[in-house]
Amino acid sequence: MRTLLLLLASVTTLSACGGAGPGPGEFKADFKTNSLFFTNMKARVKGASPHGSQQTWYSSNMKGLVSAGSFTAPEGTVAIKEFDMASDGTADGYAVMVKKPAGYDAANNDWYYEMRMLDGTVMADPPAGKTQMCIDCHKGSAKTDFLAATAIK
Ligand code: HEC
Repeated sequence: MRTLLLLLASVTTLSACGGAGPGPGEFKADFKTNSLFFTNMKARVKGASPHGSQQTWYSSNMKGLVSAGSFTAPEGTVAIKEFDMASDGTADGYAVMVKKPAGYDAANNDWYYEMRMLDGTVMADPPAGKTQMCIDCHKGSAKTDFLAATAIK
């Protein structure tokens, strides 16, 4: 009994601190207020992608990892980039990456890509999935497991 209690206590501690374990595995519409997500950016900043200004949120399991120069994101990790194509202060939608179980797309680090409208609807174009145009650019960030915004504050 004592062992069981100790075990339960450590499981609770692990999930409460939210580091390095599996992530939520999917886009959550309330990501800005949901404790399953965090952002290191105070506002949108102009990035180097074709998406204009952006602010990126990661699932909380990435808290200890994003600042590292080299890492592998755990299964279920979610990255959400709110983008403002024209950099005019109005957000246009969300670019999303989800780390799928090993084997989903082994050659490209098992990421699933999707674009969503502000209301959360998945866009048809570009198609969701192992989207080649997304992969072609994101694979350049090999050390940070295809994630390109980890160093942006
Ligand atoms: C031409 C290069 C390029 C293409 C194509 C591209 N991205 Fe990105 N992406 C970036 C860069 C650079 C960043 C870093 C933030 C910024 O500059 O906007 C980024 C950031 C992101 C992020 C934030 C998480 C992170 O750390 O990388 C997501 C999510 C994302 N892109 C999704 C997508 C999706 C989905 C597609 C395809 C529909 C896509 N990207 C296509 C270059 C690209």
